[in-house]
Amino acid sequence: MAMIAKKCPQCQVKIVDINADRINAWNSDCLPIYEPGLKEVVESVRGKNLFFGTDIDASIKEADIIFVSVNTPTKTFGFGCGKASDLQYIEKTARSILAASESHKIVVEKSTLPVRTAESMERILNSNQKGIHFDVVSNPEFLAEGTAIADLENPDRVLIGGHTNESGRAAVEEIAKIYANWVPRERIITTNLWSSELSKLTANAFLAQRISSINSLSALCEKTGANIDEIAYAIGCDSRIGPKFLKASIGFGGSCFKKDILNLVYLCEHYGLPEVAAYWESIVKINEWQTTRSVKRVLRSLFNTIAGKRIAVFGFAFKANTNDTRESPAHLVVRELLEEHAIPVITDYKALPDAKRNLSDVLDKVQFTEDPYEAVKDAHGVLLCTEWQQFAELDWKRIYDLMSKPALIFDGRNILDGDELKKIGFEFMSIGKA
Ligand code: UGA
Repeated sequence: MAMIAKKCPQCQVKIVDINADRINAWNSDCLPIYEPGLKEVVESVRGKNLFFGTDIDASIKEADIIFVSVNTPTKTFGFGCGKASDLQYIEKTARSILAASESHKIVVEKSTLPVRTAESMERILNSNQKGIHFDVVSNPEFLAEGTAIADLENPDRVLIGGHTNESGRAAVEEIAKIYANWVPRERIITTNLWSSELSKLTANAFLAQRISSINSLSALCEKTGANIDEIAYAIGCDSRIGPKFLKASIGFGGSCFKKDILNLVYLCEHYGLPEVAAYWESIVKINEWQTTRSVKRVLRSLFNTIAGKRIAVFGFAFKANTNDTRESPAHLVVRELLEEHAIPVITDYKALPDAKRNLSDVLDKVQFTEDPYEAVKDAHGVLLCTEWQQFAELDWKRIYDLMSKPALIFDGRNILDGDELKKIGFEFMSIGKA
């Protein structure tokens, strides 16, 4: 929305939320999320044509277009528990829009949703007795955290799905016109509603599938002497495969991949396609296996016992350049270290507050420090979980001197120079290399 405000000075953008603390933070100098470049964009338009508030009903009344961006977490109860999307916030929002509206509106699904959610939205919205017509349009978001501003400024594509009748087509065009202020028309794709809704889940499933594919083969590389980074390069040169999303890792994280794939699995099961469901579910299973087997490798290297040993965990964010820790592989790593009675010492450049919240039930067993050199004091191992560039630039000789010996490094992101580290004296392990 900040980017729309920036690129469309003729539009008034109002962001409303039921959480007043968050809105206050968006109105302050300290934004509630860390995202490179976001603060500058927000500050350039806030108070001009971008506003944050909690007056939801009044904002609904005024709006011509409403982007619904509420959360759709995985259900933790009832039918579909652990897989299906919990759509209660979507439904509540549709009902709020219905209650407060006095004129026609275009309602845009921005949240990631299961295919055919628009049908339910329309049933609620068009059940009104006021004679108001609502058009529901799907406009999924494809930005990635850490690179959000660049992704929004220069998207590969913008996807807009709507009904193919006259009013549906007009609504799609209205949304397309907003993006056309800065996105070339040929990159604005329009489809029917269901294709748009399903494309979002499919895109994330394909991206995650590439990571699980390369990660599964990293295990074979470790057994055979092949090198996963060399393989990724070799296959990525094939223009049909392409080089992106082939970086072997300790596992993918983030709020989207696992949730969206499990939602896809649920949909396939719901529509009676168990084989398709099993295919996509295996991508999540391999991902968890990749993280768990990494911890087991560390355990084996430390003489099969890490009880009472300090293990430095480098990075808790699910990827670099974000403070987001949702579904971070580091979280699973720390839980497994605790199972072995180790003492995890976590360091991260942005994610320590969230790490503390995630681990609030075990705060007495885990240590946190902003200083990586502090984290490694007397540690038996370093387990690198997040690819912060700063980690690659540390003084590793100093780190070696501070650690217990033998000193082990497990590079779960393949960003460190293993040969250099071995020269210093480290025992070094990484993903997909013997
Ligand atoms: C992902 C998609 O990339 C976005 O297109 C999508 O809009 C977003 O989900 C969403 O649905 O909101 P995001 O989760 O922010 O974006 O981050 P990614 O860059 O996709 O990374 C996901 C995870 O995969 C991270 O843990 C990352 O470290 C890992 N990863 C990524 C790898 O392990 N290897 C790779 O080659 C690439």
